[in-house]
Amino acid sequence: MPSTVSLPAIALSAASPADIDTELLAVPIFEADNESADLHSLDAATGGALHRALRSQELTGKLYEVFVTPVTNGWRAGRIGFIGAGKRSDFNLERVRRVAAAASLSARTRRVQRFGWLNRGDLPILKAVQAATEGIVLSAYSSDRYKSGERGAPPIDQALIAASGADRSDLEAAINRGRVFGESSNIARELSNEPSNVLTPTTFAERATEICEPAGIGVDVLEARDIEALGMGLLLGVARGSAEPPRVIVMRHRPAGAPQAPVLGLVGKGITFDTGGISIKPADGMERMKDDMAGGAAVVCAMRAIGLLKAPINVVGVVPTTENMPGGRAMKPGDVLTSASGKTVEVINTDAEGRLILGDGLWYAQKLGATHLVDVATLTGAAVVALGKVTSAIFGQPDPWVDLVRRTVEEGGDRCWPMPLYDEYAEQLRSEIADMLNTGGRPAGACTAAMFLKEFAGGLPWAHLDVAGTAWFDDPKPWMIKGASGVAVRGLAELAFTSAKWK
Ligand code: BES
Ligand code: MN
Ligand code: ZN
Repeated sequence: MPSTVSLPAIALSAASPADIDTELLAVPIFEADNESADLHSLDAATGGALHRALRSQELTGKLYEVFVTPVTNGWRAGRIGFIGAGKRSDFNLERVRRVAAAASLSARTRRVQRFGWLNRGDLPILKAVQAATEGIVLSAYSSDRYKSGERGAPPIDQALIAASGADRSDLEAAINRGRVFGESSNIARELSNEPSNVLTPTTFAERATEICEPAGIGVDVLEARDIEALGMGLLLGVARGSAEPPRVIVMRHRPAGAPQAPVLGLVGKGITFDTGGISIKPADGMERMKDDMAGGAAVVCAMRAIGLLKAPINVVGVVPTTENMPGGRAMKPGDVLTSASGKTVEVINTDAEGRLILGDGLWYAQKLGATHLVDVATLTGAAVVALGKVTSAIFGQPDPWVDLVRRTVEEGGDRCWPMPLYDEYAEQLRSEIADMLNTGGRPAGACTAAMFLKEFAGGLPWAHLDVAGTAWFDDPKPWMIKGASGVAVRGLAELAFTSAKWK
């Protein structure tokens, strides 16, 4: 199967815009940008077409608007593609990333092979160049791996980023960081888009090994007997209904000279398909549940970026992975499972399986020495009911840790909105016969799920991202094709570089 994660060659161009040798030079345009001094030379390059379009309002700078015009004077670019970037005052790194992605996606549909990006705006230049690179790389992903006939336009094969105002080596490092972050996101998208007959727990673990080892990350795959020896009864309970054996993917980043503490622990939900089990889901839309391992993919691919970019601290990644199936040996409502931590759980709905496998995953990350925890999971439909597909939900403790995780993940381009963990929610999880129930019913379903996980966080700084609404785009966006989004990869990776700010 051809890989769909191929990358354009991306290089820095320190040349003046006139000397950038490219088929299409993309230039962000803000609303009411008419007066900007740097537009005069662009106007001259287009024989006055830029100002004519601004005057007639064919081009207004509205987000993702595209206006392509030939170059008529001696510039080396063939055409200039102006791309709406919205209000200058609203411009931020996520806008750069999306606008660059929209510009290169649109160049791609025009069959452009050599693409240029001109850095504009008032953002810190290195971060802006990194974000633009991420956007360009994100646009290179295709989800047509299983099409044998007609395929979409191929990705652009060369991108030049025109930026000045910082050291060349720093700009090149920013491009490299953007490339690693973008490519790691694309690999996560590819994993999440894979059908569950291809991506079983076994092949997920094999792919994780192939993805992480070349990045210098140590990978251990725990098999059923190892999982039994560790007493991970929650993971084993979920796996019982499936013919596919479970795995735990364990990834370690141990750079020479790293301090003993802190140790970041990343835990991702790796359900390769969620039928709901005996509490089976309706048929309509069930195919989406192949991406119920998007949190696990985010952890695997963040570990890759952490290894390639040589984060300065020790990091462990833990991805428990299994199918959730209604087999003859499947767990049944009313069953009681014993977790590796010793806590017992009465399973009243087998479709609340994510929190079960994460409970054992959080415990194992601590056993491996994690001092600070983050988990990522397509955990609840209730998070989608609460927040839609606009933002992930974030929960955790204490507040400074949750805030830091939130800001870091948002800087990576993934929104997350804080949600509460009031003690009262625990009452909904009270069981007559075990330490807790695995669901708290309909009210505050995302909160009670987080409350369940909190019991396995051992009182450590811990943040939980519920990405049920954000892991998948149902419709294409100007900056992103349909399907898996690669949520949280960049933010989790960046987090491993923020330890100076941790308590
Ligand atoms: N994987 C689902 C959550 C989900 C729903 C992700 C929609 C993406 C889109 C999860 O395992 C699940 O089934 N949760 C149940 C929990 C309930 C039984 C308490 C849910 O949200 O309905
Ligand atoms: Mn489920
Ligand atoms: Zn699930």
